[in-house]
Amino acid sequence: MIQPLMMSAFGELVISRVPVTKKETLSAFDQADLLVLDYLKTQALLSVNSRVLVVNETFGAITCAVTQALIDVQGCLPVLWSDSHIAHLGLQKNAGANGLPTASFTQAQNTPQGPFNIVILRLPKSHALLRDQVQRMLPQLSPDAVIIMPVMVKHIDNALYQLLESLLGPLTTSLARKKARLIFAVNSLGVGINSPKPQETFWELPALALSLQHFSGVFGRTKLDAGAQVLLDQFPQGPYKLVIDLGCGNGIQAIAAAKKWPDSKVIGFDESYMSVASATINATSNNVADRCEFKANDCLTGVEPQTADLILCNPPFHQERVMGDQIAMRMFAQSAQVLTQNGELWVVGNRHLGYHAKLKRWFASVEQIGAHPKFVVLKAKL
Ligand SMILES: C[S@@+](CC[C@H](N)C(=O)[O-])C[C@H]1O[C@@H](n2cnc3c(N)ncnc32)[C@H](O)[C@@H]1O
Repeated sequence: MIQPLMMSAFGELVISRVPVTKKETLSAFDQADLLVLDYLKTQALLSVNSRVLVVNETFGAITCAVTQALIDVQGCLPVLWSDSHIAHLGLQKNAGANGLPTASFTQAQNTPQGPFNIVILRLPKSHALLRDQVQRMLPQLSPDAVIIMPVMVKHIDNALYQLLESLLGPLTTSLARKKARLIFAVNSLGVGINSPKPQETFWELPALALSLQHFSGVFGRTKLDAGAQVLLDQFPQGPYKLVIDLGCGNGIQAIAAAKKWPDSKVIGFDESYMSVASATINATSNNVADRCEFKANDCLTGVEPQTADLILCNPPFHQERVMGDQIAMRMFAQSAQVLTQNGELWVVGNRHLGYHAKLKRWFASVEQIGAHPKFVVLKAKL
């Protein structure tokens, strides 16, 4: 089991991942977090005049340490800007665990209001989200602002470096320490876009007469996901009363369900705030907003047990850069709690992921629906 104690230049903090699991093997912070905290301390960058924006960190490690340091100098609390509801939960949990006030949090579809003079930017996996965030952030910086990007060396490649240079102008880097490095930019050459709203992409699905909008962080923002297509092709017959779209992304499965069963109520959950925002817009533009609701949530946490008679799920296979089926497993386990006795969980996944055997941990019957060379659609019942 991994130890949650983070010893940084600003002292000790307990920083855990959320949700907390008994046999956690992954840390909630990394060497890049520690390196940037070291740098802030040795350069004495945090003062009563600091306005700090932290972007995209996963569980609040940097934000909590900076909060602590700024309280000591009677400065303003930092702002965390992220697309992740889990990051928001992590910040709340870790601030509370250390007796700190919770820094303010801005959801990624909104633009944090500056001026900020220190930005600590953890680079997201999605280049579209990175470009959008940097362009909206630049007009919110003071002229003397410094932008510090803590990275694990293995996560930075030429394409990403060039994208950063194109967005921010000339960059400099620190020496590497324990496979981490800092990349620096100053607010000089970057070209920002003064917009309260994220960049959007649109596509249409004529077969279902759907038209869909996507903010920059939404899964499948440029085209229909192949797995999503397979699930739409093998859609259940129904009708159903309460349908859940688990990991709803742009809301495509939820909206298709609402259109197919006019008497149904549909709820979509996603941990990405931009996804929830886009799905909400899509329900309105596709005329099903009166029966669809979208909420930011970690899987089905807090959802009333035995309430849904259908759960549709095209599960994620990574959490940012951490690959694996741990989120899918949590989605299946919680689905077993939330379904009514006769309820059905319909899952689409890559054939090689072996969801069929895994679903049997929670479901008495798991049936394969239709065949596709790459994907399987599975119907699981209690
Ligand atoms: C493969 S995409 C499916 C999107 C959409 N349902 C579709 O079929 O195109 C998986 C979705 O799960 C969401 N997700 C990831 N982790 C989650 C979590 N812990 N709780 C809820 N949703 C999550 C991702 O943001 C992503 O939108």
